[in-house]
Amino acid sequence: MVLLLFLPLFFAIPIQSSLMSSSSQPHFVRSTRNISGNKMSEAAPQQYFEVTHPLPSDDITPACSVSVLNHSFGYTYGSPPVSVDYTPPPATCKWSLAVLEFRAECKGEQYDRIAGVWIDGVELLRTSTAQPTEDGIFWSVRKDVTRYSSIITKPNLTLAMMLENIVNDEYTGVYHVNISFLFYSDEAARVPLSIIPGESGARTLNRKLISVKTHGNVDQLDINRVLNPLYPYDKPADLVIPISGALDEGFWFRIQDEFHVQTTNVQISQKTYKAVLELYVSFHGDDEFWYMNPPDSYVETNHLTTGRAHGAYREVLVTIDGQLAGAVIPFPVIFTGGINPLFWEPVVSIGAFDLPSYDIDLTPFLGLLLDNKKHSIGLQVADGISFWLIDANLHLWLDHSNVNAEMLKYKFPSMEIQRVSEFVRLDGKFEIDGERSSKASAWVHSSYGILKTKVTEKAKFKSKLKLEGTMKELKQRIKKTTKIKITDEIGQVIVNLEVKINYPLKISIDTQPGLDKGTSLMTTKVEQKRSDRFFYGVNNSRVLSHKQNCTGLMVVKGNSVLSGSSDNRQIYNYQDEFGCYSRNVTVVDGDVVADRTLTTCVV
Ligand SMILES: *[C@@H]1O[C@H](CO)[C@@H](O)[C@H](O)[C@H]1NC(C)=O
Ligand SMILES: *[C@@H]1O[C@H](CO)[C@@H](O)[C@H](O)[C@H]1NC(C)=O
Ligand SMILES: *[C@@H]1O[C@H](CO)[C@@H](O)[C@H](O)[C@H]1NC(C)=O
Ligand SMILES: *[C@@H]1O[C@H](CO)[C@@H](O)[C@H](O)[C@H]1NC(C)=O
Ligand SMILES: *[C@@H]1O[C@H](CO)[C@@H](O)[C@H](O)[C@H]1NC(C)=O
Ligand SMILES: *[C@@H]1O[C@H](CO)[C@@H](O)[C@H](O)[C@H]1NC(C)=O
Ligand SMILES: *[C@@H]1O[C@H](CO)[C@@H](O)[C@H](O)[C@H]1NC(C)=O
Repeated sequence: MVLLLFLPLFFAIPIQSSLMSSSSQPHFVRSTRNISGNKMSEAAPQQYFEVTHPLPSDDITPACSVSVLNHSFGYTYGSPPVSVDYTPPPATCKWSLAVLEFRAECKGEQYDRIAGVWIDGVELLRTSTAQPTEDGIFWSVRKDVTRYSSIITKPNLTLAMMLENIVNDEYTGVYHVNISFLFYSDEAARVPLSIIPGESGARTLNRKLISVKTHGNVDQLDINRVLNPLYPYDKPADLVIPISGALDEGFWFRIQDEFHVQTTNVQISQKTYKAVLELYVSFHGDDEFWYMNPPDSYVETNHLTTGRAHGAYREVLVTIDGQLAGAVIPFPVIFTGGINPLFWEPVVSIGAFDLPSYDIDLTPFLGLLLDNKKHSIGLQVADGISFWLIDANLHLWLDHSNVNAEMLKYKFPSMEIQRVSEFVRLDGKFEIDGERSSKASAWVHSSYGILKTKVTEKAKFKSKLKLEGTMKELKQRIKKTTKIKITDEIGQVIVNLEVKINYPLKISIDTQPGLDKGTSLMTTKVEQKRSDRFFYGVNNSRVLSHKQNCTGLMVVKGNSVLSGSSDNRQIYNYQDEFGCYSRNVTVVDGDVVADRTLTTCVV
């Protein structure tokens, strides 16, 4: 523990053979002295950004706003998070869309860091920082946090932010962060590209669904409440319960290995008619690049000192009273020190400033949970090694009186995995194929009727890792289809939602000796895509496709990048029932050479 104090958060103890491809550390820090030397000095601070679609509210003046935190994160390693009083918006402020605005700036040399923001233990944002430059950088993240309405409207709560940073003679960057909440009226929520439609938007959407899907007994149902499917969260939950740790260590659980199960006992209201667990996940240390970790046998046979091993499959598992109830293979977010730091300036990797959270519908488990007793919710990482930062929010929707539920079907096996490993000395090929089908269903009897919720899921995982001479090559694919169907007593479909995710990732790293002694020349490539598609209703869908293609060279000494060249091309397409947004960004050697935005639909 004490030893770690002097090391940056993200990388393990440097190993001697770090210049060899088979065990190289894919986490670097850009050397500000050398790289900014290539450019004009004394330049103005540069704005960094993650490519994402704008919020409908971005150009609108908020109805009200609350500034909650202005803080500088200097040497904060090992300290508890910063916590401040959170003040909800005044009752006179009429709003239907809430946005968390996170602004940061930093100057000097510094590693990228992970950060989390919580209110009362409920996580609202998981973010990572960009690596700064001598001239300084700044960025902002705007996140729709309307789904946390029940928390952000409560008085007397505490907002906490954790960002462990180390400042010394060499790593001088202090992260200055400001957080505010912006509250917008209906107006903002109604314009195209709204993630959360406001009152009237939601109604038209629902009417569309109703006319298609239900006949007859519609009037008995409070359609606005029941029809809003799991995704998108047209209506925020009535209650959000944190499944998180103690304040001192940041609310996240630090999961150290595959046997480490973090359990939380919760007793939920008997009025609950819908429950969704939202997982926040990030991976660090020896598992920061889990998808490129060779098996233990390879590391042991070759007498390597690296801790980055245990194969390239990981899954976050959620259990209820010890039974597997959900599983997530997280999107492989690459932080700004990852693979080649030159890729990530000024455009960061997919998800780096706003890490995705993952929803697991636990409604089929209400039959178990509604007995007025405590149940244990467990979080763990299949095959995980040190360390993962994980916590969850349990979103609950409440009826006005008690609800009865009965579980009908339940089958949630572990991922079925096949592994093929072949290696001779340091050259090897490692393949993993995983697959799982699961289903769970239950009746929920509430004032909205007797509704059956059925959740089925099919997940596939494929990974090929090749180590050959100076080359390291990864091809990985994560695919999952989740179907959520709600039917009434006579079998009429009320909600029919399908979520398809597809996360392909290709990485290649070639490491050659550099011209100068002690340096190496690395040729790096990353091709990655995040595809999240939601289909609900007949013509309603919400489709995101975000691709990045990065190629570059860098001269590296130890963990420092001394020089190099890089390009990063990102293509972002988003479409929902209100419209489309696409953006095409090309960055060459840190300069944005093309940035085109279209609001016409390309698909
Ligand atoms: C910067 O580059 C020069 C020459 O390439 C090298 O001598 C020097 O050590 C580098 N500086 C740092 C801080 O690595
Ligand atoms: C943060 O700084 C701004 C600008 O000076 C100020 O208006 C705001 O009240 C500050 N917020 C907090 C929580 O101190
Ligand atoms: C944060 O607020 C302070 C005022 O308190 C301001 O000087 C600073 O520029 C702000 N920083 C960012 C990153 O917005
Ligand atoms: C909030 O705290 C204040 C002061 O501690 C107290 O007077 C007030 O009643 C609290 N409000 C609520 C809703 O708990
Ligand atoms: C769905 O789209 C088709 C073709 O665009 C259209 O004919 C149909 O009326 C739409 N249905 C609904 C319920 O909007
Ligand atoms: C990625 O970029 C490289 C070089 O710019 C190019 O050769 C390659 O075809 C691109 N790949 C994709 C999938 O666009
Ligand atoms: C994105 O922009 C680049 C550079 O302007 C261009 O070459 C490329 O064809 C564009 N791609 C798409 C899909 O629009």
